[in-house]
Amino acid sequence: MSDFLNDKRFAGIEKFPQKLWLSSPTMHGDEQHWVDEAIRTNWVSTVGANINEVEKQIAEYVGVKYAVALSAGTAALHLATKLAGEKLYGQARPNAGTLQGRRVFCSDMTFDASINPVAYEDGEAIFIDTEPDTWNMSPQALEKAFELYPDTRLVVVAHLYGTPGKIEEIKAICDMHGALIVEDAAESLGAKYKLNGRWVETGTLGNYNCISFNGNKVITGSAGGMFLTDSLEDANKARKWSTQSRENAPWYQHEEIGYNYRMSNIIAGIVRGQIPYLDEHIAQKRAIWERYEKGLADLPVKMNPWDREKSEPNFWLSCLIIDEDAMAPQVRGEQNYLYKSEPGKSSPQEILDALAAFNAEGRPIWKPMHMQPIYRTHPFVTVEGNGRGRSNAYIAGSGVDVGADIFRRGLCLPSDNKMTAEQQERVIEIIHRCFL
Ligand SMILES: Cc1ncc(COP(=O)(O)O)c(C=O)c1O
Repeated sequence: MSDFLNDKRFAGIEKFPQKLWLSSPTMHGDEQHWVDEAIRTNWVSTVGANINEVEKQIAEYVGVKYAVALSAGTAALHLATKLAGEKLYGQARPNAGTLQGRRVFCSDMTFDASINPVAYEDGEAIFIDTEPDTWNMSPQALEKAFELYPDTRLVVVAHLYGTPGKIEEIKAICDMHGALIVEDAAESLGAKYKLNGRWVETGTLGNYNCISFNGNKVITGSAGGMFLTDSLEDANKARKWSTQSRENAPWYQHEEIGYNYRMSNIIAGIVRGQIPYLDEHIAQKRAIWERYEKGLADLPVKMNPWDREKSEPNFWLSCLIIDEDAMAPQVRGEQNYLYKSEPGKSSPQEILDALAAFNAEGRPIWKPMHMQPIYRTHPFVTVEGNGRGRSNAYIAGSGVDVGADIFRRGLCLPSDNKMTAEQQERVIEIIHRCFL
């Protein structure tokens, strides 16, 4: 890494005395009250008033009939995926997943927690390339995937960085093929989408919907997540599975495999204290995105895009992508990287290193799942069809791979809602200096 603090390009810029985070928890005081209340009343367990209250309040906010509070977004995604598997293919034996031998179409550029539950349930994830307009699942690539694998009946779709994807198109394609949707709204709580002319929240758009209260999310419980649904049967099943699948018997009786996935009443106390501030956090995140858009307008970069007619992101993370002709050389191996500085150009790794040198935290774009070592043998579908093995020693392939391109040229910027305008101006200045 270069010595950014002594590099002439960065002369006059001071290091942040306190680290500027990508996205850290923002406590307000109410959290302490509800946690104390749980302890005072001795509801220090996976039952209690905080859990009941957060389930009620989030269901009301998002506009679903039922919310089931769980230990993590990942737990919600697992139960959602299992519910879908059981609905489509029936109950599995205790030692097998509900998706055994089945294919599932999955968002490709996302956190692996979105799609790992497909593997927990013994299914095979087929990765669907990303579109450049919202950085989410490409409906065209999804159509190609149904041409290649017409028997597929499940799609797992995430809203990247709080920006709703092209859900209307994706739903229409799924309806045409009789496929169900697991919606991963872990990053997008509070984001809105215009579905068939009506504004609705993300977290209501799939057949099975999930959110997260992980420490870096727009509101947090330190951990935690929820399964959201309009189906009482699915809500009850998720609740049962999450509490070790106890039957209604005087002793511990089990007809099904269970999990210890329920949210604790202490965690729920933190979430309960955060809910009143959700809209405020979103407004702060939006202001950050807008300041970046303005402050970086004169550079050869673009902000992460969103559909201004059909969506209102929650602006969880602000990101940028460098124009191709302003990309300085950068190579990434499996665990390390190299880059070169060139006048008028920069690269995500250079910008991330420069930010880190000045004590600010950015992050690479989620490395697409089809590029991950664990999933390299899984199919990947682009707008051109099969995205694997399109070139060989004799024929040059077109190499369309939108996700790989955004990963190569993009990065997540410090997006903490406590960042002041002055601090953000300094971040913007550091990015400008990278292009000198
Ligand atoms: C897109 C996405 N899906 C799933 C998860 C998993 O949520 P959790 O950390 O609550 O398990 C996260 C974040 O952590 C995420 O960003």
